[in-house]
Amino acid sequence: MQIFGLDIGGSGIKGAPVDLERGDLAQERFKVLTPHPATPDGVADGVKQVVEHYGWTGPVGLTFPGVVTDGSTIRTAANVDKSWIDTDARALFSDRLGGLPVTVVNDADAAGVAEMHFGAGRDRRGTVILLTFGTGIGSAVFIDGRLVPNTELGHLELHGHDAEKRASSKAKEDEDLTWEHWAHRVQKYLAHVEMLFSPELFIIGGGVSRKSHKFLPHIQGIKADIVPAQLQNNAGIVGAAMHAAEKDG
Ligand code: BGC
Repeated sequence: MQIFGLDIGGSGIKGAPVDLERGDLAQERFKVLTPHPATPDGVADGVKQVVEHYGWTGPVGLTFPGVVTDGSTIRTAANVDKSWIDTDARALFSDRLGGLPVTVVNDADAAGVAEMHFGAGRDRRGTVILLTFGTGIGSAVFIDGRLVPNTELGHLELHGHDAEKRASSKAKEDEDLTWEHWAHRVQKYLAHVEMLFSPELFIIGGGVSRKSHKFLPHIQGIKADIVPAQLQNNAGIVGAAMHAAEKDG
């Protein structure tokens, strides 16, 4: 079965039909830039462009980079326009897509579900934490394979700062940090999360996951295993489609 998966991020809106048996993209993904300011209207236009690129007319699973309750209501908007707060995202997107059935889920939760099923978290019990490093830091916490939805560990306070402002990959770019310097910040962040949750495994997702050889060797002193996401930056798209399939069936 195929469902369309779409990942809304701080820099890009990307999607593709997903093959749910294989847990992989069924076609090459298509991406448009996230508009700035990233208002509901502008983002919905981007979503429409991506879906229309494939002439898709079936169910669409979307991710959103903030807290999503009841599968629809946006509660936070750290890296997109604040006018998203309290928006009924399912109604907005379904309307813009001419009435197609849509579901909406937090981006890191989607990536986590995909990794637990098809990637680095397969068959892992106990506490597993996936962290995505991108424009912000997203988190997905699993206990024996079950998600605790909408955790926001990217906003833990670290040395008086919002952690994602110091350790996201955007912070690395904005401050022009070396991989080693950035890895040092990520290590402090992981040590803090480890102190709070004692997970067995950290899965590192987001765009940096495909460059893990550049920073993972610099991270030391963490007791949990640390591995890169196997679906890399497609985990959100695959997870969004899995979420839609679950709600559909
Ligand atoms: C948001 C999270 C999101 C993460 C990654 C954070 O700023 O609060 O909900 O998962 O960024 O996009």
